[in-house]
Amino acid sequence: MSIDLSTSALTQLQAGHLKYEYRGIPALKCPFDLAIYTKLIWDMKPRTILEFGSFKGGSALWLADQVTAFGLNTLIYSFDINVVEWTDPRIAFCKFDASDPAAFITSEFMATLPRPFLAIEDGSHQYEHVLNVMRFVDRFAQGGDRLIVEDGIVTALGIADSFQGGPLRAIHEFMAGASDRWARDEGLNDFYGPNMTWNPDGYLLRLEDRLPERLPNYAQDGLQTAHNNGFMADPRFQKAYARGVKAAGADYSWHWRVHVGLWAAERAMSVPGDFVEFGTNRGFLASSIMEHLAWNATGRRFMLLDTFSGIDERFVSPVERQIGVLERNQRDIDSGFYALSVDDVRTNFAEWPKAEIIVGPVPLTLEKLTGEAFAFVHIDMNCAPPEIAALRFIWPKLSPGAVVLLDDYAYNGYEAQKLAMDRLAAELGFSILSLPTGQGLIIKAG
Ligand SMILES: C[S@@+](CC[C@H](N)C(=O)[O-])C[C@H]1O[C@@H](n2cnc3c(N)ncnc32)[C@H](O)[C@@H]1O
Repeated sequence: MSIDLSTSALTQLQAGHLKYEYRGIPALKCPFDLAIYTKLIWDMKPRTILEFGSFKGGSALWLADQVTAFGLNTLIYSFDINVVEWTDPRIAFCKFDASDPAAFITSEFMATLPRPFLAIEDGSHQYEHVLNVMRFVDRFAQGGDRLIVEDGIVTALGIADSFQGGPLRAIHEFMAGASDRWARDEGLNDFYGPNMTWNPDGYLLRLEDRLPERLPNYAQDGLQTAHNNGFMADPRFQKAYARGVKAAGADYSWHWRVHVGLWAAERAMSVPGDFVEFGTNRGFLASSIMEHLAWNATGRRFMLLDTFSGIDERFVSPVERQIGVLERNQRDIDSGFYALSVDDVRTNFAEWPKAEIIVGPVPLTLEKLTGEAFAFVHIDMNCAPPEIAALRFIWPKLSPGAVVLLDDYAYNGYEAQKLAMDRLAAELGFSILSLPTGQGLIIKAG
């Protein structure tokens, strides 16, 4: 929808705007928009106005006079790369650069502003700058806040190319990914006719936050809960999980465990070091993680250790023999759950050159595990002695803040692993968070 005025009419109006002054100070605003602003300010009664782009300060002065006339106690901040030098006690003129708003305006400032706020983007009109400001405002906006993006009219004026596509390009790109949070205010945009404004599609309203969706109760993989499992509906989670299913050739229905694994891996990205998994099998979790974190861009190695022939009997403890770990191992081999072909596993991981597969039984393969700094460890060998050997080996190499995830720590039927891990925790001085998924979580102290 574009404004129904000829380019020549628009160009003449634009010439008028460019020479408009308010109380002797240039204030480049279209009269239609001044009227819309007046109505909007009265209707929404903003408690804060944030103007990005002060120019000479004329609009800020006009805004201050409006709120004063309406008897509102509104804070007004006007940001610009060139800070306005004259002063008015009602306006704070501050420095910012639209290339990186967050470098100038703190999260604390934005988060504690009196609400609702009216944010106005009226800076360089360069597409990138506009998008930066929109994204910055979006991070802090709450239901009822508003954002006006000025001067999308440059498109109808035929001069958008000088602005990398200008505000309209930024608005449309932003809204394509934000329609769950922001709505075009039809009433204001189309007040004088469709987009009959210098700010086409620029009057935006932040929608009320929707309460998290309530999905059917989670009841699988030994965990039954009525608590929110909304992560299952997250497309990013679904994509990662689907990659795990592809690796395994089966859905193990262990979504919550994978959710924990993805969270843990993501957290470990803020810690230096490689990732390692002891007990990879067909690579369900590791593939989900690598998909989730766009592994090839991380530059990190992901070391994957497995016998690729099931549990090595030599390393099964007496108590595990008593409780039937060998029989379970045989069942996992017979059912085809355990990978017996390392070639298939290599094929699965071929898209990630830095996935390094080490074949053979832990602890005998530990000497092949090179590297001195690790950020993430997943331990899932279904057998206590190699798990203990693995954690004992890797512990001194973990960076401060590294995450260790134990797949079976609290899982029903895997008590021998829990007992052994609790002993190691006491010896090495770490504590294990027991999760209702059956997993155990350890963070290496900083
Ligand atoms: C439950 S599976 C691992 C599942 C895998 N983490 C996933 O996400 O799909 C357990 C794996 O541990 C391996 N394993 C058992 N004992 C081992 C040992 N001593 N050394 C290396 N791998 C071992 C088995 O071959 C099996 O593939």
